[in-house]
Amino acid sequence: MVVSCMSHLECSKCGKTYDPDQVNQLCSCGAPLLVRYDIKRLATVKKDILLNRPHSLWRYKEFLPVKKDESIVTLGEGMTPIIPLEKIGTRLGMKNLYMKDEGIIPTGTFKCRGAAVGVSRAKELGIKNLAMPTAGNAGAAWAMYSARAGMKAYIVMPENAPPITRNECAVSGAALYLVRGIISDANKIVGRAVGKYGWFDASTLKEPYRIEGKKTMALEIAEQFNWEVPDVIVYPTGGGVGIIGIYKCMCELQEIGWIERKMPRLVSVQAAGCAPIIKAWEEGKSESERWKNPVTVALGLKVPKPLGDFLILDAIYKTNGCAVAVEDEEILRIEANLAAEEGVFACPEGASTLAAAIRLFKQGWIKPDEKVVLLNTGTGLKYPETVKVEAPSLDPTEDLPV
Ligand SMILES: Cc1ncc(COP(=O)(O)O)c(C=O)c1O
Ligand SMILES: [Zn+2]
Repeated sequence: MVVSCMSHLECSKCGKTYDPDQVNQLCSCGAPLLVRYDIKRLATVKKDILLNRPHSLWRYKEFLPVKKDESIVTLGEGMTPIIPLEKIGTRLGMKNLYMKDEGIIPTGTFKCRGAAVGVSRAKELGIKNLAMPTAGNAGAAWAMYSARAGMKAYIVMPENAPPITRNECAVSGAALYLVRGIISDANKIVGRAVGKYGWFDASTLKEPYRIEGKKTMALEIAEQFNWEVPDVIVYPTGGGVGIIGIYKCMCELQEIGWIERKMPRLVSVQAAGCAPIIKAWEEGKSESERWKNPVTVALGLKVPKPLGDFLILDAIYKTNGCAVAVEDEEILRIEANLAAEEGVFACPEGASTLAAAIRLFKQGWIKPDEKVVLLNTGTGLKYPETVKVEAPSLDPTEDLPV
């Protein structure tokens, strides 16, 4: 039985529609395609169906593009915890500060959501080979899910991507290449390869299904707060798939009446050393300009010109959100605070959301009673080099000094 309510694909720029049962990449106009659903059918779905559903993102099957259960490639991803940051919140005067912790998920980052849905749908469409450029974490996730699906993954990442993501690609049998450059350079290499070999291009927003996996963060946040959405959601933005997906999903939930008309204000956070979205937002523009010489420790945020920049900015404008750039020093300081005060070892990208929230609270943009959800998009375990360790080394006969 087909439970997915997917109806068609639609261009995010020109509105041209496409058949989802064909393999599609970008629209002929060059813009990303978005999955559209039969809203009337979706509106007949009742929330009680969730009662007996698995504790994973597949509990929202009607909202996803995968048609057959046999196509699902899963490692149990989704339904990550929402952790109250009580100590930090109390210290700052923010009474309702939460972190959705995507560090507790297969492959250690939220990239597995996009990979689970993207690879499942690719399998359903009969794809055997896929290629993608990555800042590291997405490649690791797609490599693992491709292995599980029996597909070949060709992954190109910057030489300075988190070293563990190389190991993840290698151990899962992906074909891994390192580029002396950044993700946009990897993107060019993949673009040439898919043209030459006919592989499926799984680059950010060049296929329509990854975003559907990432949007499940919005479904989970809504369900975990009993269908009363928070006032603010703070998202660390690279290619922006998460923020675009969250906005898309909140609109779908509103359309079918699962949530009220109130929309969370979406905040896009970038590193000060690579902040094309922040600059565009500050200038009131609808598209970004390519950022020159990007530098940041938050490697997933090093995207100089996101393909979906106009969709990210639209999500910010439409929700009365905002965009904030934070310095690397601040990110690393906050990463340490989060571990020491709350026991959460966040990745630098995740830590940047708290840095941004603190700034917005101090500026009065976030009010003391407002419910704020920070997205920690991955575990700090993937970035051990961001913590300097100095520990005395003891001989077995030595005692601990008091
Ligand atoms: C840990 C982490 N957080 C955030 C991001 C940014 O995600 P997106 O490209 O969906 O904006 C990335 C991307 O690589 C990442 O690895
Ligand atoms: Zn188009």
